Amino acid sequence: MKVIKPSVISHKIKLGIALMSSVGLLTMAGCQNTQTVQVDKPVDPRQGDISIWPTLDVAVKKDPKVEAKVAEILAGMTIEQKVAQTIQPEIGSITVEDMRKYGFGSYLNGGGSFPGANKHATPADWIKLAEDLYQASIDDSIDGSSIPTMWGTDAVHGHNNVIGATLFPHNIGLGAAHDPELIREIAEATAKEVMATGIDWVFAPTVAVVRDDRWGRTYEGYSEDPKIVHDYARSIVEGLQGPVNADFLSERRVISTVKHFLGDGGTVDGDDQGNNIDSEQDLFDLHAQGYVSGIAAGAQSVMASFNSWHGVKIHGNKYFLTDVLKEKMGFDGFVVGDWSGHGQIQGCSKENCPDAMNAGLDVYMAPNEWKVLYDNVVAQVKAGVISQQRLDDAVTRILRVKVRAGLFEKPSPANRPLAGKAELIGAPEHREVARKAVRKSLVLLKNQQNILPLKPTINVLVAGDGADNIGKQSGGWTISWQGTGNSNDDFPGGSSIWDGIEQTVKAAGGKASLSVDGSFSNKPDVAIVVFGEEPYAEGNGDVSNLEYQRGNKTDLALLRKLKAQGIPVVSVFISGRPMWVNPELNASDAFVAAWLPGSEGAGVADVLFTDESANVRYDFTGKLSYSWPAFADQGPVNVGDEDYQPLLPFGFGLTYGDKNVLASDLSEVAGSNPDSQVAEYAIFERSAQAPWALTIGTETERKAVDSKIVSLDKIQIRSIDKYVQEDARQVTWTGGQADVSLGAPFPDDLRAYTEANGVMQLDIRVDSQIPAQVWLAMNCAGECDGKLNIAPTLANYTQGQWQTLRIDLACFAKAGTDFGKVFTPFSLATDQPLQLSFAAVKLLAKPEGESNISCQ
Ligand code: BGC
Ligand code: BGC
Repeated sequence: MKVIKPSVISHKIKLGIALMSSVGLLTMAGCQNTQTVQVDKPVDPRQGDISIWPTLDVAVKKDPKVEAKVAEILAGMTIEQKVAQTIQPEIGSITVEDMRKYGFGSYLNGGGSFPGANKHATPADWIKLAEDLYQASIDDSIDGSSIPTMWGTDAVHGHNNVIGATLFPHNIGLGAAHDPELIREIAEATAKEVMATGIDWVFAPTVAVVRDDRWGRTYEGYSEDPKIVHDYARSIVEGLQGPVNADFLSERRVISTVKHFLGDGGTVDGDDQGNNIDSEQDLFDLHAQGYVSGIAAGAQSVMASFNSWHGVKIHGNKYFLTDVLKEKMGFDGFVVGDWSGHGQIQGCSKENCPDAMNAGLDVYMAPNEWKVLYDNVVAQVKAGVISQQRLDDAVTRILRVKVRAGLFEKPSPANRPLAGKAELIGAPEHREVARKAVRKSLVLLKNQQNILPLKPTINVLVAGDGADNIGKQSGGWTISWQGTGNSNDDFPGGSSIWDGIEQTVKAAGGKASLSVDGSFSNKPDVAIVVFGEEPYAEGNGDVSNLEYQRGNKTDLALLRKLKAQGIPVVSVFISGRPMWVNPELNASDAFVAAWLPGSEGAGVADVLFTDESANVRYDFTGKLSYSWPAFADQGPVNVGDEDYQPLLPFGFGLTYGDKNVLASDLSEVAGSNPDSQVAEYAIFERSAQAPWALTIGTETERKAVDSKIVSLDKIQIRSIDKYVQEDARQVTWTGGQADVSLGAPFPDDLRAYTEANGVMQLDIRVDSQIPAQVWLAMNCAGECDGKLNIAPTLANYTQGQWQTLRIDLACFAKAGTDFGKVFTPFSLATDQPLQLSFAAVKLLAKPEGESNISCQ
């Protein structure tokens, strides 16, 4: 449920420092003790208190020779050539000829976008595309410009779009390692793998300080603690770019981006791309620390964030992009936008947004809409809507980075020293670093009777759907954007957690068997169960509370089944965030938070097993860099909170021999709040919310909707944009019975919603004529079916306009839905031609909205 907070913040003012605020001058000269007083100060999101922000001692100094060269190039450029430097298209929507014609300053490949749209593109294919686009960029035959372009990619846990690359643990696991030197090694290895594919620039590190673990990007952050992020940002920037004055942006290095500026980890309810309403002081103390050290270490680009601060999108906020970042902090590289992020500024669209550049954005990330945007920016500069001076400043910054990176001198991508060195992709020495990182990231939460470590000579059963699943253990941003749709074959050279266990145990003469469902013929000495979240990225991973497998506790059932047979159970939990797993903890003798370890799953067995003589090979060293929640609906729990009541605190992590601290009978009541059962429940929000899965079906077939377009004989569904990328689906029925449904193999008890007089709320858009019957149903796998004909209501809607439809759940109950065991909470069906789109599907308690349908 959304919390509405007044737009007034408590501004902390340290007495003892003379400080100007909008409420007046507070001077307490001579006062020794620092105390805090609360002064209510209305927030002006466009004009803050600049004195909060430091001027950084940036390692890369302005070099007069570089500046002279930039000025000389700039002086010879036309408006069109300059604007082209500020536009960044995506490889899927430009051709080499477009590059020749426009001479874009840069381009990107989005998550899960490959040369030739081929997931299995080889390093040679990547190099070829880099070379072709580079050559076209320096070809001045059409645009008169010969400025080399540069390629940016999301190498966020290794070079994760490339098959065979080393995939390091996601940042959440690295945070648990508390080891800045390790981060440097990882960054150095990543830079080499990126360079082997001819790419110049990476959109990393993410320096979000994550305060609400319901955020789908929690795992992209190192910690909830700004100190860890501060220390890591320096290491990763230096590892990627090389230390200033030694190897800086050499052939082995890439340009880095600290992102997403500013406040992405602190939005209300952990909403992706949401609104941060922290005070400006908290924005600095908590959310800006990665910029403080990353920029000081020489990061050459900063990515603007999708989020707002007090309702104003950062992409359009001149105060932050220009006054704070560039002028006060002294950042002299360039600011790149996020994926069409400029289009979210009020009054802007993806194709038209002078406000972003005027606010201080230097590069528009305009993956698909680059063409119209380019024309608009050119026209806006000519008309003075964007000043010449602002454009020149943006281009100066871009060229400054290109000169510093040696792009004018370096050979073309195919001729650089590391180019095409396929042996660097997934090189054994990089995998060794990743495996070490896996070992160091594991956090031991529970170890009853010191059941761990295990001897490799015993009989081990390995169960759970995460055991032999490299895709699952790698999470989002893994080959595909969401990290879904991969099989173990997509990770040549990598290892699953099972692989490591099997090798270790077999080498020692023990017995290891893999059985996903936990069945066995010979009773094992111990069961290791590997389970956890399915991969997700960005807003698709937003959840409304932290309960693991809400309404669908299949993994708990597996743990209990094994325990009931007297088998000790070791749980290895894969997740992008701490979660409420009290029932699973109770059902486990030992419990390891493994986060998202990446391609070197074998690192897990290194720690779980001793050598044959029972000597520990690697002890647990990981400590929580995120507090572990005591309740599913606890809301943000962060170290330093006044009322800090986590289940396990920040910094927690057992080592071998430590006394176990968690009781074996933790409360299994998920919520601390009695009303939490009837909080807003999203079934579909940008994507199907677990445990529900989206499918389309006809009388004879059913298909999972696992890509942007999925079709069957009589029905097709595709992703479309309502507010943000791919947050809605358009469904086309061509005639003949077919449906689109959200369902799960196990039922959910939704009676709390009928008891609260709840409604189903649905964002819907009619895109065609409405036939006589369109059925909206909630049903129970053949045992109950409550369906309503919503055609008469839809027929009143204007085509092409989004509407919010609300239906009393009582109508479904009357029609036959048994709310105690709902398998399919949403199904839309017709047998006539029809096209319509839907976005959010939610259950709400009344009186949030009136029903638009009367049911008799
Ligand atoms: C792209 C991602 C991008 C996302 C924007 C996807 O379609 O593949 O790279 O980050 O859109 O949110
Ligand atoms: C993400 C960024 C990413 C960009 C390019 C966006 O959706 O927010 O983190 O760098 O896409 O893929």
